[in-house]
Amino acid sequence: MNYDSKHTEIIAPQEGYDLVAKQYKDYHKHLDTFYHINFLKFLPRKSEFSIIDLGAGDGRMYKELSIIPHSTYVACDISREMLLNHPKGPQHLVANLEEKLPLDDESFDIAVCFFTLEHIEKSEEFLAECYRILKDWGKLFIGHFFQRREFKRSAKNRNFKIKQYKRETADIVEEATFAGFTTEVLPLYDKADYNGDLIICEK
Ligand SMILES: C[S@@+](CC[C@H](N)C(=O)[O-])C[C@H]1O[C@@H](n2cnc3c(N)ncnc32)[C@H](O)[C@@H]1O
Repeated sequence: MNYDSKHTEIIAPQEGYDLVAKQYKDYHKHLDTFYHINFLKFLPRKSEFSIIDLGAGDGRMYKELSIIPHSTYVACDISREMLLNHPKGPQHLVANLEEKLPLDDESFDIAVCFFTLEHIEKSEEFLAECYRILKDWGKLFIGHFFQRREFKRSAKNRNFKIKQYKRETADIVEEATFAGFTTEVLPLYDKADYNGDLIICEK
């Protein structure tokens, strides 16, 4: 087991998010203030898109993504408990983003990954998988926020933090470029505060 300097247990995302799944909705309001993105603005004219939310959790982003006309919507997460709280309708896929995904090559137009990449240790492999499952000209939208420290959580009589890996926007851009994407970085604001970057990776 791992502990931080104050002896708080640091646990793996699957176990951690299974534990906090019932309370995650309480954070939605706060997380929703971190950015305001009109995803449609970045998409080509097309009548229908295939969408995958990578690290979809309990579907916080479903309300903003489901307005994009779509033929397919997959909510993918390692935590079964989080997905149980995801709105019904999309296909739910329990899968580990650190491994090869059980998805065909070139099957999605849009992939999004918000508040999740910080939990992925092997980000290079993950970005290569994103490249593989996206169609030509498909886009991966990464929401990368600053100062997302592991914070203390309490659930089921346990105090713990969920493991994270620190990286900068420039590191993600470098890895995405290596995977074959062309990238664009747009700053994200919470009111006047610059608090993260939207990294758009195009295949
Ligand atoms: C902070 S939540 C973000 C949820 C949602 N994307 C949002 O913006 O509200 C992080 C999510 O990533 C998932 N996650 C973490 N590591 C993962 C992995 N290796 N594979 C799949 N999902 C993972 C967690 O289970 C959790 O649901």
